[in-house]
Amino acid sequence: MSRLIVVSNRVAVPQAGGKAAAGGLAVAVNAALKDRSGVWFGWSGRITEEPSDRPVVTNRNRIKYAVIDLKEADFQEYYNGFANRVLWPILHYRVDLAEFQRADLSGYVRVNRLFAEHVSKIIQPDDVIWVHDYHMMPLAKYLRERGHANRIGFFLHIPMPPPELIAALPRHGEILGSLAHYDLVGFQTESDRDNFGRYLSTRGGQAGADPNIFDIAGRQVRIGAFPVGIETEAFARRARHAGRTNYVRGFRRSLAGRKLIIGVDRLDYSKGIPHRLEAYEALLRTSPEWQDRVTFAQITPKSRIEVPEYIEMDRFLSHKAGQINGTFGDVSWTPLRYVNKTYSRSALAGFYRAADVAMVTPLRDGMNLVAKEFAAAQDPENPGVLVLSQFAGAAAELSGGALMVNPHETEGMAAALKRALDMPLDERRERHERMMAVLLRQDIDQWAESFIEALMPPAVKPVTAA
Ligand code: UDP
Ligand code: G6P
Repeated sequence: MSRLIVVSNRVAVPQAGGKAAAGGLAVAVNAALKDRSGVWFGWSGRITEEPSDRPVVTNRNRIKYAVIDLKEADFQEYYNGFANRVLWPILHYRVDLAEFQRADLSGYVRVNRLFAEHVSKIIQPDDVIWVHDYHMMPLAKYLRERGHANRIGFFLHIPMPPPELIAALPRHGEILGSLAHYDLVGFQTESDRDNFGRYLSTRGGQAGADPNIFDIAGRQVRIGAFPVGIETEAFARRARHAGRTNYVRGFRRSLAGRKLIIGVDRLDYSKGIPHRLEAYEALLRTSPEWQDRVTFAQITPKSRIEVPEYIEMDRFLSHKAGQINGTFGDVSWTPLRYVNKTYSRSALAGFYRAADVAMVTPLRDGMNLVAKEFAAAQDPENPGVLVLSQFAGAAAELSGGALMVNPHETEGMAAALKRALDMPLDERRERHERMMAVLLRQDIDQWAESFIEALMPPAVKPVTAA
């Protein structure tokens, strides 16, 4: 039986305090590995001047977590630079924010080669390797150079824009083109997959009748859509339990009977947080009957705090929050509770359950697990309403139950917010049921199983033992 080796920049190494970093990749991979065994390799999150050439290993259940430190220059050029100031904005359709520097690209290549060197040492011939996200695109190329003929798959957690936009990325052929070294490249939605298919057809031939298989430089690569799900049933259970804790009860009491709108996002310009706050302001202005009857809790853990665009968004949001409370608040009512803390997913589950409305309004998002978690956390007898941007990957699955909005239209979002707050119970139940049907069918197990199955060559045993 073959082993599964997962490689990603961020690794959810079990910690003494139990609190994992916020972010969809860590949450999804963690859940996908839960009932499997294998190795998860990546960055420790630490910076050291003389990193050891051996990873630090933690064994927990049947998973071996192996992590390495990075040098300051690697962290700056690879992580802050190329990954988060070039790939992240361009793949989120924000070419205007991209800051390309050749030194950062060199750092990105250097760290990918370093990862390949480490992973190469642990690979056995029939291991299956699953690489995650934009930090690690060229990894398969460097593993192939080292002679590894294993099945290697790649999953992109963030959006894939059309080829006309990829063209703005200097030397995109070296980076995105290197994805052709994988056997399978997976995306969150069919539209991401089709965008990449169009990009690949500008670079090499389609293999045959199947539009999702390409022949490039003597290899065959398959592309596919595998929308990430959540542990739907377990999350619903967790929310039921969390809703009864003193912590969440205390939170609910503090609202003094007011309705609760919730937002949960890493502090990131892709999330459309300013846009939803504008909509909330518009609601309070144009529907004054809602003043003092509603509270907006925006939970926003800081993220990528050395990247200038994030520093700017942090300043902007703090200012905006103060402005909203200054304009509409009263001594006995804070319209917006803006919090920069990271919460455990159990606490979040309880907050979602306590909320009447969630606003998930990204300008672009690969999937957005918060949207799915909110829906799963609701009390089916009295569910809250999800207001969802048409630009979240989750829209492809949840548009039948969520109130869909365009985050670029403030009045439209304010109207959706009002409709959500006023929505009768029957309609709320019906919408919630529709979302749950999808979330139960397309959960995290289905995601991992379908990807791994598509990655395995036909007639090979399933991946189980380490
Ligand atoms: N999250 C968390 N604590 C927080 C905020 C978020 O654990 O304080 C989790 C959240 O529950 C979700 C993930 O981080 O599972 C965020 O994933 P999403 O796909 O919504 O966005 P991303 O951060 O990956 O862009
Ligand atoms: C998104 C990305 C992940 C990343 C996460 C948190 O979910 O797709 O790759 O891990 O954000 O960002 P960070 O930079 O802290 O890892």
